[in-house]
Amino acid sequence: MLAVLSLFIMGCHKHKKDVAESAGRKWWKEAIVYQIYPRSFKDSDGDGIGDLKGIISKLDYIQRLGVDVVWLNPIYSSPNDDNGYDVSDYRNIMKDFGTMSDFDSLVKGMHERGIKLVMDLVVNHSSDEHEWFKQSRSSRTNPYRDYYHWWNAERGNPPARYSLFDINHDAWRYDSLTNAYYLHYFSRKQPDLNWENPKLRREVFDIMKFWADKGIDGFRLDAFQFVAKDTSFPVFPEGYEKHFQLYYGIGPHLHDYLQEMNREVLSHYDVMSVAEGAGNSMRDAHMLVDSDRNELNMAYAFEGVDIAKPEGYSLLHFKEVFSRWDSAFANDGWLSIYLANHDQARLVSRFGDDHPAFRDLSSKMLTTFILTMRGTPYYYNGDELGMTNTGFDKIQDYRDMSLLNEYRYQKNKHADTIQFLSKARFASRDNGRTPFQWDSTANGGFTTGTPWIAVNPNYKIINAAEEETDPNSCLNYFRKLVKLRKSEPALIYGKYTLLDKANDSVYSYTREWNGRKLLIMLNFKNQTAAEYTGIEVSHLKVLTGNYPTPSVPGRLRPFEALVLEISK
Ligand code: NOJ
Repeated sequence: MLAVLSLFIMGCHKHKKDVAESAGRKWWKEAIVYQIYPRSFKDSDGDGIGDLKGIISKLDYIQRLGVDVVWLNPIYSSPNDDNGYDVSDYRNIMKDFGTMSDFDSLVKGMHERGIKLVMDLVVNHSSDEHEWFKQSRSSRTNPYRDYYHWWNAERGNPPARYSLFDINHDAWRYDSLTNAYYLHYFSRKQPDLNWENPKLRREVFDIMKFWADKGIDGFRLDAFQFVAKDTSFPVFPEGYEKHFQLYYGIGPHLHDYLQEMNREVLSHYDVMSVAEGAGNSMRDAHMLVDSDRNELNMAYAFEGVDIAKPEGYSLLHFKEVFSRWDSAFANDGWLSIYLANHDQARLVSRFGDDHPAFRDLSSKMLTTFILTMRGTPYYYNGDELGMTNTGFDKIQDYRDMSLLNEYRYQKNKHADTIQFLSKARFASRDNGRTPFQWDSTANGGFTTGTPWIAVNPNYKIINAAEEETDPNSCLNYFRKLVKLRKSEPALIYGKYTLLDKANDSVYSYTREWNGRKLLIMLNFKNQTAAEYTGIEVSHLKVLTGNYPTPSVPGRLRPFEALVLEISK
């Protein structure tokens, strides 16, 4: 009897799943992803570095946010040249972060709370301290030699390749041990893996299976668009480094590799997959994610997040970029929506206004944008509190290797380092990596020790404990918006239509699905602005807004955000 009942229930579930899927519905489209930077989230043992036990202690907080998925930056063994993006053992946990048993408890704790876990997969490069690389560099005939890209010195200088993180921007590093150069698009301690080698691909797929078998729910593929290289290493035209993405992105066989990965791993698990980078054109992006390609679920493109500049940005440009991407993916494929992550400075400081008068409002306005657009939202930890840039003054305060190397590069060139530092105050990714501000106790409650990077001194005012108690806080607004998105399929699947296109202060759009129609109006400026949508809004029901008092029809107050119901 029980067996029959459970078969019946399974049948119902399957039926529901089929119906949902036939309509193109997928859990990873409906998910809200919350990104945790483990090093800065919560330290449990007083060494000043966030860790897995720290995250475990905050699982109830994460659950109360209402998010569905956590994306965790790399937690594998690593000498930490690039905070974990240099992996020395893909099947172990970084000592600073804890043990495999902590990891298992973390997954269990998340799953018990209905939260899925996405792991970073860093396989464009490994650490130079990975056993593969140690073997590879030991001799030209070592079986691991072809796990990496080597250029024997007797062939002369290798054709120039730009390195993003190297102190000289030279991506070839000479190694006297075998009289050869190895390739590293990122730092010298991040040698690029050779994806042409089927043995290497098999290793990566086995690693993915190892984690998927442990129960994780997805992979974020770091720098993946760069993995495929033309290994004849042709000479690139002069000035190529200014457009290196064009030369490095979507190399030969990239799609073959992804299809192989899908066949070998992804298709066997109910996991989501997202690529960092979406290629150099809409066509590239579609080829990565369209449903008939059998590659990935989604990618995140850089164009939107790159708009913010120290001197400000044009809302018209912002609208144009997001509308163009939306329309290109209206019928097939799926994208992610984000404005911040661990590679960016803080959301509110880059896209809003972090002065006390507007921080709260502009942060809520940006949250409204991210959670009402089509695409899977990725939301970075701390942004739900409206955390701001610290804006370090001194080079000694920075920890990011890429910034420190660039500083030395500029200094060696006798460039203006004052100007460099002033730009870094706005743009450095260390701004987004300062410790999470839990409360107003020492170090914002992040650690009882000395934090690995300074806590933003504004933690006394901006912190989770304080915001918990205030119904109008950024934190509670974020929760409200998460709830709204989860209860409104129109916000997930609905058609997006841009209105009032020429308005350079207010961004208005509708989302429409199965007869349900919502209007979103966002004032991106710190002054009152008029809207010209042509829609009579005075009688529309306000579903949410970031001001405590009713709005004035036709005008939006500074950074005002409104979600209105046009039809049920
Ligand atoms: C992209 C990651 O997001 C970034 O943090 C890292 O430094 C590079 N890839 C290299 O792995």
